[in-house]
Amino acid sequence: MSMIVFRYLHFLGITFWIGTAVAVAIAASAPTPWESGIAQALRKVTVRVTTPSMLIAFAGGFGMLIPNFAETYASQGWMHTKLVLLLALAGATGLLTGKLRRWAEGQEVAAQTFGRLGWAISILALLVITLAIFRPF
Ligand code: HEM
Repeated sequence: MSMIVFRYLHFLGITFWIGTAVAVAIAASAPTPWESGIAQALRKVTVRVTTPSMLIAFAGGFGMLIPNFAETYASQGWMHTKLVLLLALAGATGLLTGKLRRWAEGQEVAAQTFGRLGWAISILALLVITLAIFRPF
């Protein structure tokens, strides 16, 4: 597959991954009676959109990274930092989907946990995009 297709998949995936993760976290942080079905509805968004989009973003990213790693990215500090931050971003997304699954199954999850995850995902995404565009080191 050509670089342009990987780049396309990268941005498509990032848009829907980060967009839905932050939206779901904000919606889940509102104190809502669990009987309303909001937990199940939000979980459906993470299962159907957020996680598949994350995988598409990763496929696009690795499709560009792997063939060019040795001659281009191995010596670029911003890319190494980006990859470390990505682990945190993927971890925060995993926490969000896990907490949402528990909430949808009827377990108690504090509303502020979702608020904090929404902030964490937003700030990590902001740092990753800043690094990828400005490439400061
Ligand atoms: C495992 C996950 C990821 C890998 C392997 C990866 C890898 C890459 C690679 C190789 C490029 C091409 C850089 C170039 O044009 O030379 C790129 C571009 C980019 N990535 Fe990622 N990336 C990942 C996840 C993300 C995430 C989660 C975000 C945003 C939150 C992101 C934001 C960007 C941006 C904004 C660019 C465009 C840079 C430009 O065109 O100037 N990446 N990524």
